[in-house]
Amino acid sequence: MPPLKCSARDPTKSESTTSDCATVASVPEVTRVLSCIQPTGSVHLGNYLGALVNWVSGQHESEVFHGIVDLHALTVTDQPKVLGVQTLELAAMLFAVGLDPLRATIFVQSHIHEHSELAWVMECTVSFGELSRMTQFKDKAAKREADFVSAGLFTYPALQAADILLYDAQEVPVGDDQRQHIEITRDIATRFNHRFGDTFVLPRAVHPKMGARVMDLQDPTSKMSKSAHSDAGIIYMLDDNETIMRKFKRAVTDSDNDIRYDAATKPGIANLLEILSAATATPVESLLSQYQQYGPLKADAGDAVISLLEPIRLRYKALMSDPAELTRLLAIGDSRARTIAAATLARAHSAIGLLPKA
Ligand code: AMP
Ligand code: TRP
Repeated sequence: MPPLKCSARDPTKSESTTSDCATVASVPEVTRVLSCIQPTGSVHLGNYLGALVNWVSGQHESEVFHGIVDLHALTVTDQPKVLGVQTLELAAMLFAVGLDPLRATIFVQSHIHEHSELAWVMECTVSFGELSRMTQFKDKAAKREADFVSAGLFTYPALQAADILLYDAQEVPVGDDQRQHIEITRDIATRFNHRFGDTFVLPRAVHPKMGARVMDLQDPTSKMSKSAHSDAGIIYMLDDNETIMRKFKRAVTDSDNDIRYDAATKPGIANLLEILSAATATPVESLLSQYQQYGPLKADAGDAVISLLEPIRLRYKALMSDPAELTRLLAIGDSRARTIAAATLARAHSAIGLLPKA
């Protein structure tokens, strides 16, 4: 692909100002959306109802890319042979929940060497001062205290900028904790475009479509989270049916035995109603009249979640026991991602004016 020369590679602007922009065919008509996920920790019901269900529906609305960013996880991982397994498990889970590799481009970051290569260019386009101001770096470095703080933890945003810019991503759905990383990506892209000519599309951070907010069954005032002290209130995607039911039956509620939706004073009941509502696609209001006691509500929420997760778990297990099929599915996304990433990296190298290989 020829180097792109366009003075306004900002997809939020409808009109561009140079005639060259008319030839910018790589800015897609359908919005291109990129979200990435680190292969750390087990996927739970909160991730599924809060995020993954929207990823699945999103594949029918936009051109979506989902990277499993194993190189990012390397910034805080030093155990051998763990990351590869976790990457494969996460990939199997993404396919099992319904992401279709022919619609959604699912790729493994370390399989696309262009990420590491563009990351170096990004490192040379971001300043030490800018990286020093990243709150995530400050927080993570402080938490690690006497632990090893890698230079990778510091340059992490440069790799993330490479992830985003390689795919000409227009939208990046992120939570508030990641907004600063999208801002720095825009700053890096703007600086690069200014220095070397317009090359990168400026991405926008967008609020992810929020699904249900799932709370911990043992502590319904806290979000269900893999960093909780105990597993008792977390429903993992791979929990078996009995475990799921047991966790629901032991869910913390309150003592007044009155079924009302009130997240402030009755967080346990509100959470069960929300989960049942999300799992059965039934509005909370229609559920309220069906229950007079906590026991049946807990049992029905457990049953609904079992019905939701059991087929996913079976698909996951089938995929994990068929490595050839899993490899084939991953290769579809890797190949598509690779083609796009290679073209963008070549564009960047050419804009800089690196000596082309003979
Ligand atoms: P995390 O593993 O915390 O980085 O979360 C990955 C995705 O799952 C993000 O989009 C979160 O917003 C979403 N998520 C995590 N926990 C929950 C939860 N308890 N309820 C709803 N969404 C969640
Ligand atoms: N930093 C993100 C997180 O911790 C993960 C991530 C890496 C990412 N590269 C990305 C997110 C690119 C969006 C786009 O959650």
